[in-house]
Amino acid sequence: MNPKRLVCLCNFVSEEEIIKVLRSGALTTAEVQKFTQAGTGCTRCVREIDAIVAKHLETNKKDPQLRIGFEFKDP
Ligand code: FES
Repeated sequence: MNPKRLVCLCNFVSEEEIIKVLRSGALTTAEVQKFTQAGTGCTRCVREIDAIVAKHLETNKKDPQLRIGFEFKDP
């Protein structure tokens, strides 16, 4: 899979950018959406974002990421 592939075509957000936000501490699709704007247009990509979030959380279950340094701000 190409990490630079665009997941959200409306807002030009790649899988790589979504993973970066997840590695920074985001835990939900809503957090990914607010931080990257992915899935906030036509919403067609939201299911794919859900899948990326679920896969990331499953992969990192044994090594839970601390949310230190992740400051979530509403726009
Ligand atoms: S493709 Fe992501 S909001 Fe439209």
